[in-house]
Amino acid sequence: RAPAPVSPTGRPTGAGEGVRAQSGERLTTAQGNRLYETDHSLKAGPRGPVLLQDHHLREKITHFDHERIPERVVHARGAAAHGVFQGYGTAASVTKAAFLGKDVETPVFVRFSTVLGSRGSSDTVRDTRGFATKFYTGEGTFDLVGNNIPVFFIQDAIKFPDIIHAGKPHPDREIPQAQSAHDSFWDFVTLHTEATHHTLWNMSDRGIPRSYRMMEGFGVHTFRLVNAEGATTLVKFHWKPKLGVHSLVWEEAQLVNGIDPDFHRRDLADAIEAGAHPQWELGIQTFPDTPEQTFEGIDLLDPTNIVPEELAPVQPIGLMTLNANPTNYFAETEQVAFHPGHLVPGIDVTDDPLLAGRLFSYLDTQISRLGGPNFAQIPINRPHAPVNDMLRDGMHQTAVHTGVAPYHPNSLDGGCPFLAGADTGAYIETPVTVPESQKVREAAASYDDHFSQPRIFWRSMSAVEREHIVAAYTFELGKCYEQAIKERGLQVLANIDPDLCGPVAEGLGLPAPGPTVAIESAEASPALSQLGRTWPTD
Ligand code: HEM
Repeated sequence: RAPAPVSPTGRPTGAGEGVRAQSGERLTTAQGNRLYETDHSLKAGPRGPVLLQDHHLREKITHFDHERIPERVVHARGAAAHGVFQGYGTAASVTKAAFLGKDVETPVFVRFSTVLGSRGSSDTVRDTRGFATKFYTGEGTFDLVGNNIPVFFIQDAIKFPDIIHAGKPHPDREIPQAQSAHDSFWDFVTLHTEATHHTLWNMSDRGIPRSYRMMEGFGVHTFRLVNAEGATTLVKFHWKPKLGVHSLVWEEAQLVNGIDPDFHRRDLADAIEAGAHPQWELGIQTFPDTPEQTFEGIDLLDPTNIVPEELAPVQPIGLMTLNANPTNYFAETEQVAFHPGHLVPGIDVTDDPLLAGRLFSYLDTQISRLGGPNFAQIPINRPHAPVNDMLRDGMHQTAVHTGVAPYHPNSLDGGCPFLAGADTGAYIETPVTVPESQKVREAAASYDDHFSQPRIFWRSMSAVEREHIVAAYTFELGKCYEQAIKERGLQVLANIDPDLCGPVAEGLGLPAPGPTVAIESAEASPALSQLGRTWPTD
């Protein structure tokens, strides 16, 4: 038998990383005691009662009883892959992030997901897709935790529990299990009309990707980049798939759902195994970092807004290739922990109130999902940079820390490198001026326009894309039991464009309401109807 693997501390790691106990010469207990039998409980005679003293039986069943960890509270169903990111060096003027340097190669792990379905739900449902990337950079881990839709449902994280409660299955019947066609979802998005833009993207073909390999990804929020001289630039991150953007139509998705609920994860794993390694170009839209934090009148801190690519083209800054499948779903795809606050020097956050809530939420949820505060020690979460922290003890601690003085400064355990002066490559928050202000529970007036950007999106669609959107709204609103919700849904559509509301109202057999907001006609604003066409394959 091969000797037990040994950890850096010199201790055998037992049934730890890389152990294939099932193919070993002998079976043992978790304590390494050899077993001679594992198929029969210890009994008082072949037909007698089972004995409580059977340690092996109790250990085996107890461990099995605790095999499952809670699924993610959102994005529970996912598929992931390893790969490499190569910087182009083109972002050097706006950021000092070393991994974006020319030809610098950084290992990555990417997890794609649906948002609302449980871990065992289907892949080809109408939903937003998560697109989370972990860059294991030499300066520490950077996570870009994005989606395949460039805007979000809400403008402030305080509403996140509400939108998720509305989107998850109804508490009474647990219906639906995987998608949005139900009353509480439509109740929420018609009462909180800031959700209109994201919902419209969901109802478009973007809501049912053909493949994870054929999805765009978006950082959604505006981030702040910092260059070597300390100058700052506001940016939005984009992933552009080399295979182009492709969708399933609704009927295809229904058939695929029935035939192969694992369609997307199978597609990703099969492609990688066959050597068809999917690639995405990372790009940024850049905006001057002005005190207003707006661009062409668009509030950059409002995550329900895009900036049309015609106004700010996406500039490529690197290439990602996914080239290896996980070898153990639980250890990698399930235990990976992303966090928008995992940042490296040169990349900083902005004051988007949705992002602020996310910076709190991910660590908090992972403490309960991954059983305590030490999940950064799980192999998939370990940085590829040296770790020298003061975090000690806690549930599932696997490190054996030495020394007696886990605090700084100290005069017992040696020096304090980061006190030695100068910039040692540390992450330094940008000294942004916070305007003098009063505490308020309110949003800026610029957050009030919920329909102009959805209108740009709708008017940029081709005839067949519009047909799909009308069919999606008709089907989804048609599934609501409450008449009042259908009517409120039609009011939202009327405020986007009467051309969208009319056919949906007809499909539902209800009168089409008129708009309650001012709508400029497409003819009056031809430029508007051309904007926002962000499909990269055009
Ligand atoms: C998980 C994206 C908003 C809380 C995720 C994941 C993605 C994602 C991709 C899956 C990560 C994985 O694969 O493990 C986004 C985007 C958002 C957003 C793009 C808005 C732009 C929020 C907000 C909150 C939140 C506002 C809370 C205030 C969570 C939580 C998880 C999660 C709790 C589960 C994390 C885990 O258990 O590991 N999100 N999210 N998200 N998100 Fe978000």
